[in-house]
Amino acid sequence: MDKARVAILVSGRGSNMAALIYAGRATDCPYQVFLVSGDKPKAPALVVAEAEGIAVERLDQSVLKQGYWQALEDSLRASKIDLVALAGFMRIIPADFVGRWAGRIVNIHPSLLPRYPGLHTHQVAIDNGDAKSGATVHLVTAEVDSGEILGQVEVAILPGDTAATLEERVLIAEHQLYPRVLAQYASRPLDAGWIEEQVDALARQFDEVGRKTSHGSPGWAVGSEKSAKLFAILADRHHGEDAVGLLVKASGPDEMSGLIEAQPDIYYWPKYYGASGWLGLKLNRRDVDWEQVRDWLERSWRAAAPPRLTRLQDIADSF
Ligand code: GAR
Repeated sequence: MDKARVAILVSGRGSNMAALIYAGRATDCPYQVFLVSGDKPKAPALVVAEAEGIAVERLDQSVLKQGYWQALEDSLRASKIDLVALAGFMRIIPADFVGRWAGRIVNIHPSLLPRYPGLHTHQVAIDNGDAKSGATVHLVTAEVDSGEILGQVEVAILPGDTAATLEERVLIAEHQLYPRVLAQYASRPLDAGWIEEQVDALARQFDEVGRKTSHGSPGWAVGSEKSAKLFAILADRHHGEDAVGLLVKASGPDEMSGLIEAQPDIYYWPKYYGASGWLGLKLNRRDVDWEQVRDWLERSWRAAAPPRLTRLQDIADSF
């Protein structure tokens, strides 16, 4: 199984870290923890991670100061990390760092976001007389506690609950929620349904695009209904291939073999389709460059679109 390589960042106790590590050990779990780091070299969580045989990078934010974020990033890249999970990591990550890791950092927060971002969530929920609290796993964006919500769990507030008793029960819920949501998120880039949604959103940015199947595979065509011409096909593990591949039109066999030879992880010669000039782009990978996919779709769209749709662009290109 192609498991996502996860790094966990901690500042303290690390009970969520432990839950993520143990769940990641199941053979069918789509992620595995390869690195634990944080901002405090004496965090108790690091001792646990070490004992569990996970690589630990002890970085001290108070010593490294501005150099801290670069050191952390170097360490994530050296371990070829796909996803970063924050587990009680009590620092705000700078916007430029978040930008470079967009969509690849998740966090757990002890409230039902968007209610109660920030600190002291349990006390605030009790003071407000809420009937329930809970926890949220969300994507990290430059704005604190406000990225896309990936999963939530509700926890009832009991009469007489204090912040400490409530925290204890929410923590149990966190330990169930976090590994499950991280596993779902880690398998998303390899899921054919999700890939099709991404391609569909990109393909529909161009004029007169509609859906059309090609030998049972989903495809996208351009032009009026009667003369619609296919410009992209999604081949989901066709004829024993392991790729969920997007087939687009290249200029010809020379370009195709050049690309396939230079970047065999990305490009392939699709069975049966290759001979008619369709180039395969493997999309069930964790490092897909969606800008590049968009560019290929545009090229393929232009090659298939009737001249009335491409005329203006053709004129602009001739200058
Ligand atoms: C957890 O309750 C987590 O939700 C919270 O810190 C605790 C860490 O406990 N995170 C935040 O408040 C982030 N804003 P742990 O170290 O035992 O996992």
